[in-house]
This record gives sequence, C-alpha cells and structure tokens, in this order.
Amino acid sequence: MSGVHKTIVVLPGDGIGPEVAGAATRLLADCAAAFGHRFDLVEMPFGGIAIDRCGTALPAETLAACREADAILLGAVGGPKWDSLPLEQRPEVGGLLPIRRGLELYINFRPIRVRDSLIGISPLRADKIRGTNFEIIRELAGDIYFGAHEHHTEKGIESARDVAQYSEPEVERVARYAFERAVTRRKKVTSVDKGNVLATSVLWRKVVTRVGRDYPNVTLEHLYVDNAAMQLILNPGQFDVIVTSNMFGDILSDEAAALTGSIGLIPSMSRGATKKAALYEPIHGSAPSLAGKDVACPLGTIWCASLMLRESFGLAAEADWMDAAVERVLDQGYRTTDLAQPGTHVVGCTRLVECIRAELSDSMHHAERYGWGV
Ligand code: IPM
Ligand code: MG
Repeated sequence: MSGVHKTIVVLPGDGIGPEVAGAATRLLADCAAAFGHRFDLVEMPFGGIAIDRCGTALPAETLAACREADAILLGAVGGPKWDSLPLEQRPEVGGLLPIRRGLELYINFRPIRVRDSLIGISPLRADKIRGTNFEIIRELAGDIYFGAHEHHTEKGIESARDVAQYSEPEVERVARYAFERAVTRRKKVTSVDKGNVLATSVLWRKVVTRVGRDYPNVTLEHLYVDNAAMQLILNPGQFDVIVTSNMFGDILSDEAAALTGSIGLIPSMSRGATKKAALYEPIHGSAPSLAGKDVACPLGTIWCASLMLRESFGLAAEADWMDAAVERVLDQGYRTTDLAQPGTHVVGCTRLVECIRAELSDSMHHAERYGWGV
C-alpha cells in the first residue's frame, strides 16, 4: 500500500479551539503513522489570537497557506477580549467571513446524527429521536451575511440595514450539491426558505425546483423556515437532506445540533467547486468559559478529522477506522461532561482522546479481529 502525502493547515484559534484542534491533530498523526501516510500539519494564526499577534483576524499569510493546503482544520474563534472591537474587525466578521469568501467556500455541510450510545442526552424522547440521520447543506457565501451592512443616524435617530441578496448561479450550485448528496442517501431533499415573504426566497425556490428536475429519483419538498424549525422538533426522522440559505442554515443547524444533545458533537465541512482547500470545523464556538479547563468535548472536531480523511483525501478505510474507535470508546461509557449520563465515566478532553488513541492502537495490533486488512 502506498501512502499519500497531504498538507493540512491547522487554525487552532481561540478559547477551546486549540484543545479540540489538538485532539484531532493527534489522531491524524496516529492515522498517518498507522497507514504509512504523511500529513504535514502547518499551524497558522487565525481569529482573536491573530488580531493580537498580527493586527488582523485573517493575516494574508494565513489565507495564502490555506489556498495551498489540501485541507484546513479550524478549532474555533472569538471571545470577550475582542467583543469590543468594531464588528468588521472581530474574529467572526473579520476572520470567518473573509476566509469563507477568500476560499470561495459556498457549501457548508453539517451532518446531524443521533447515535444509540448517546440517545439519552437528547432533549427529545428516545422514541422520537432514534435513528435521526440527516444532513444540512447550508449556502455559505451569499445572503444577508455578505450584502451591505449599513448603520447611520439621521436627525438623531439611529438605524441600520443589512441587505440579503442571491443570484441564480449562487442558488443553483449549492442546490445541485444537495441533490447529489441525496442521490447517495434516502433520496429526499427538503428546501427551506421564507418564500411567503422574501424575494430572495422566491428566487431560491424557483431555482431549487428547476435543479430538482434533473434528479427525477429524488423527492423535493419545500418548507417555510418557521415550519421547518417546528418540524425538526416534532419529527426529525422525516429529514434526509436539508438545503437552505446562509442565515436560515445557521439557525437551523444549531437547533438540529441541540437535538443530538450537545453542540459539541457536530462537525462541518465547507467547500467550493473543488475538493481543494475544504475547511473542516466543529459547529460549536470558542466557549471561553470552558477554555483551559480540559473539559471541552473534542468529538465534533475528531469527526471533522474523519470527514476530512473521507471527503478530501478519499481515505474511507482510515475514516472508518477512526470512527469505529470513537464508537467503541462511547460504548465503553467514556464521556466529557456535556455528554454525561448516570452510569457513564466522565473524563476530560485529554483523557477521552487518550482512550480513543488506545483503541486505535489496539485495533492496529489486532487487525484481523477488527477486519482491517492493513
Ligand atoms: C457558524 C457561526 C458563524 C456563522 C458566526 C460565528 C459568524 O455561527 O459557523 O455557524 O454565523 O456562520
Ligand atoms: Mg452558527
């Protein structure tokens, strides 16, 4: 078997970002060693830490390194220290949005899956939530996020305005990706908009419907966003692939994450037209109150690593190997605090990662038992 050689830019960021990114990079290093690959991990400043060190949340060298990378792993950015800066300089608007724009990452993929081992931590009853497995495809490069943001005062009255905008090609390219995903799954796309009020949503619905005609085997349904928010709670099992705009996708993906019991469990992949320079990040924030305490849940970021192996590098066996080790550790009852239930062993972030590494190493030594032909 010949190994692959990949460059991964790592942006640990702020708060718990470095802890969770460190968890994922340790497992990526184990993967490279076990399978004979070479992953060059290049750490770059991004977010609040980059503001402190370089005066800007997205330094030019960081963006340039990301453009050259085979994949990017991001921890999390932001924190109270930078909250008093003008909006456009903060880690979110001055870092996250420009990196998405700069790398033309218009697809944001967020898989929502309820595992039997973690079913008890969901706020929904087990019979309502069991088997939930859907994907949110959030448009990431347009909408109200990237229209003009204006703030002015006239005759002593302050007002502000944010412009939402979509073009036909912007909707088409993300819609096509959603249908392609659905073809490989349960063949259902739910498009979410606010077509009873917004012009951008009327365009959205028209374009998604047109794209859907190219996929006669996929069922397309349209939901208004308010109804979609309700349906997620009432019957999450009805969803397969949800495709929606930047703003609605942001909101619905936090709601969907809550269904799984912890926002710490959800990875994401952001990508553009090619697989080059896809960016992987857990959907949670930098959780400043948890930083430095070794209590953060690293699973969302670890699942980013396996998603990267699978989607960016085509290393499905390695991704399965990593996912299986995580499942075994969960089955053994090891949990971070956010996942705790009666009868489980609560451990810190570092210890959880060590448990997973021990499982990885064990499975390499007993390759036949686990079915790994390496
Ligand atoms: C997310 C986050 C970001 C977003 C913020 C931090 C800019 O909430 O990735 O979901 O709104 O896209
Ligand atoms: Mg969000």
